[in-house]
Amino acid sequence: MRILVTGANGQVGHELLRVLVKQPSPSIPLRSEGGRKSPPSLAKGVAPQARGDAHLLRNEGGRRAAAGGCRPPLCKIVPATRTGALEDGTPCERVDLADPDGMRDALDRIAPDIILNAAAYTAVDRAEDEPELAQRSNGDAPGVLGAWAKQHGARVVHYSTDYVFDGNASRPYREDDATHPVSVYGRSKLAGELALRDSGARHLILRTAWVYAARGHNFLRTILRLGAERDVLRVVDDQIGAPTSARLIAEVTARVVAQWCAPPSAGRGSMRSIGGMPTLDGTYHLVTSGQTSWCGFARAIFERARAGGLLARAPTVEAIRTIEYPTKAARPAWSVLDTTKLRETFDIALPDWQHGLDEVIGELTHS
Ligand SMILES: NC(=O)c1ccc[n+]([C@@H]2O[C@H](COP(=O)([O-])OP(=O)(O)OC[C@H]3O[C@@H](n4cnc5c(N)ncnc54)[C@H](OP(=O)(O)O)[C@@H]3O)[C@@H](O)[C@H]2O)c1
Repeated sequence: MRILVTGANGQVGHELLRVLVKQPSPSIPLRSEGGRKSPPSLAKGVAPQARGDAHLLRNEGGRRAAAGGCRPPLCKIVPATRTGALEDGTPCERVDLADPDGMRDALDRIAPDIILNAAAYTAVDRAEDEPELAQRSNGDAPGVLGAWAKQHGARVVHYSTDYVFDGNASRPYREDDATHPVSVYGRSKLAGELALRDSGARHLILRTAWVYAARGHNFLRTILRLGAERDVLRVVDDQIGAPTSARLIAEVTARVVAQWCAPPSAGRGSMRSIGGMPTLDGTYHLVTSGQTSWCGFARAIFERARAGGLLARAPTVEAIRTIEYPTKAARPAWSVLDTTKLRETFDIALPDWQHGLDEVIGELTHS
């Protein structure tokens, strides 16, 4: 089985490579009660085998599959980036979401059984000035992946966002709540969901939010940099969400894909049916439990960073309102997603948002 990971240099793509190639982290209790915990990680960073061209992974005695990793016994993980190189310069496959013909050629050449599409145009504010590129990359490309997958009997796992909602709800958003994006980025991501669904391919759409990691472009790294430079930071306190680590997203993805590709009897919860066969296909919300504001997240980051020795002193964090920090793109004030469907269907316990934070701060502290 070949698993193509697009956007392999991104936060989620990078963690997908880590998780698919080696064992998941020991510290996130993904299995709900009664399940056994994941075995410990073997090494830091992407295992050497994950770099460069496609390689073979052997599943030893089902251990990896039990941990939510690669299944069935022989998997080939194929990383792809927009430029055809991983961040350390090692060549890999080239898949540019903005180049549909190039994508089809790459798919024909790679012939994946599963496409994990972690690539996306994620520059939320810049998208307001580049709506066509955002639409091509986020809106049209999932349809191209879906059409190829449908034609070749492959499956697509695609990531989407809380930004498909307008943020005016008063309870956590469920998967079937009405969408109403308020930005170019949100509209492009919603278009991608629709294009993938319309393709008729076997698919999972995993909507996540407030993604961060020890590397890449994200709020945690920005706030740590600013915190080291300034005594006082003013951070928005009236946007609410659940910070979710890219590692958690990757680990849950691996576990979900293992169940999704297993015989139907292995699945749980209520299943739809495709052509009379039960299926776990569809849209799921994948975020941590609990909720906070950006301001609450910033304070928690500094508290952990100071305790972990990453910062000598923490700045004062002042709470401000969105209106005091204007951005080009509007953002939903309420980004809390209901994860009941994912938890019950796949028997997954999603940890509190603070759990992943400890792990990422720990990773930065020891790097
Ligand atoms: N970040 C968040 O807070 C957040 C929140 C909700 C949902 N999501 C979704 O989660 C998924 C993963 O996001 P992430 O946080 O991992 O994003 P990320 O760190 O920004 O990574 C996205 C990756 O996509 C690549 N990319 C951009 N345009 C591309 C193109 N035309 N062709 C191929 N690759 C391209 C980028 O490559 P370059 O480095 O070359 O630009 C980057 O490596 C995305 O679907 C995103 O929409 C993210």
